[in-house]
Amino acid sequence: MTHQYCLPADITPEIFLRDYWQKRPLLIRQGLPQIAGMFEPQDIIELAQEEEVTARLIQTHLQQDGSEKWQLKTSPLHATDFDNLPEKWSVLVQNLEQWSPELGKLWQAFAFIPQWQRDDIMVSFAPKGGSVGKHYDEYDVFLVQGYGERRWQLGKWCDPSTEFKANQPIRIFDDMGELVLDEVMQPGDVLYVPSRLSHYGVAESDCLTFSFGLRYPNASDILENFCKALEHHSEQINSSEFAIPFRLAPDVQPNGLLAQQSIQTLKQQLIALLQHSSQFDALFTQAIATTVSGRRYSLLNTEDSFYPDELADVLQSGARLYQDANCKSIYTDNGEIFVQGEWIDELNATERQLLAYLADGNALDWQQLQQYVSAESSLALLLDSLCDWLDNGWLLLDTE
Ligand code: SIN
Ligand code: CO
Repeated sequence: MTHQYCLPADITPEIFLRDYWQKRPLLIRQGLPQIAGMFEPQDIIELAQEEEVTARLIQTHLQQDGSEKWQLKTSPLHATDFDNLPEKWSVLVQNLEQWSPELGKLWQAFAFIPQWQRDDIMVSFAPKGGSVGKHYDEYDVFLVQGYGERRWQLGKWCDPSTEFKANQPIRIFDDMGELVLDEVMQPGDVLYVPSRLSHYGVAESDCLTFSFGLRYPNASDILENFCKALEHHSEQINSSEFAIPFRLAPDVQPNGLLAQQSIQTLKQQLIALLQHSSQFDALFTQAIATTVSGRRYSLLNTEDSFYPDELADVLQSGARLYQDANCKSIYTDNGEIFVQGEWIDELNATERQLLAYLADGNALDWQQLQQYVSAESSLALLLDSLCDWLDNGWLLLDTE
């Protein structure tokens, strides 16, 4: 596998993760030169008006007293929304992986961050002066300049207690504190902004900025998926230690009261069970894997379906298969595969290995496919599965 990371020559993935990740910003001049020229502003303005797109249009109106009034409109956006715009505005489109497999492939430049932490690629267009204001985000992001120039300023660290301006449709504030970076980015430049670091990007000319955004699960996501895992395994659960009642020795209390003390005792017993139970570890692994392999955007229908013999033909003529970045596919230490928030439990060992190989960012060609042929997976069966996975939108075929 050849990795073309976007990092500077003297910063290895190990150094980046140790010294920069969630600690310090990093400006990488020409970290991703391939992105320059991939899109023009008009492509994005038109895309923002497509029916199934998630987009936001932000307008900045200058008031008579010199202050700015922000206005937000979320998708669906229409051509008329782009009439009579003020001088400063921005349009943002989420989940670009859905619309451009070529762009989705560029996630490989960030493959030193595990795939399970990916969120999506967002793009913003703004004419000169356009911005989404000074703010911080709860996620880490690699900002990549794709077209034109944008000036980025980075300032103070924030946390959930940092206040945003009241009565604004977007989360912004005025005070960035002392600036730690103030640079103009050119097409191909990359800026890593750690979560909670305040940032402010202003277009210097018509400009496109791509945000390769990451994300992490929270307690509520995990607990929701934990309940789904419990349900999935309800039969085993019913005959396990999870089904044994907790023991309580309450003090004398009014008869109708459910005392806080009883609740605390039950909580302690539950925590103790979770800590020693291997069954819990298995369920929890499933809960985490389904949480982090899920995407906020569902897959739209893919265009081409293949028959196994057609796929065999194109692979033999040099085409390669790889994981579609529009889909999340991960595997756990015990080799289980999770795709788009689902545990794929019907796979045989060979299929699991094949999907794990693709989840690591590797391309599969005809020759490599032969190495997966085994007693349980004939070539015909593998080609069948690959056609299904293509159909599901898990894989892409690269015929170049
Ligand atoms: C932008 O591209 O204008 C905003 C990106 C960000 O602040 O995260
Ligand atoms: Co931001």
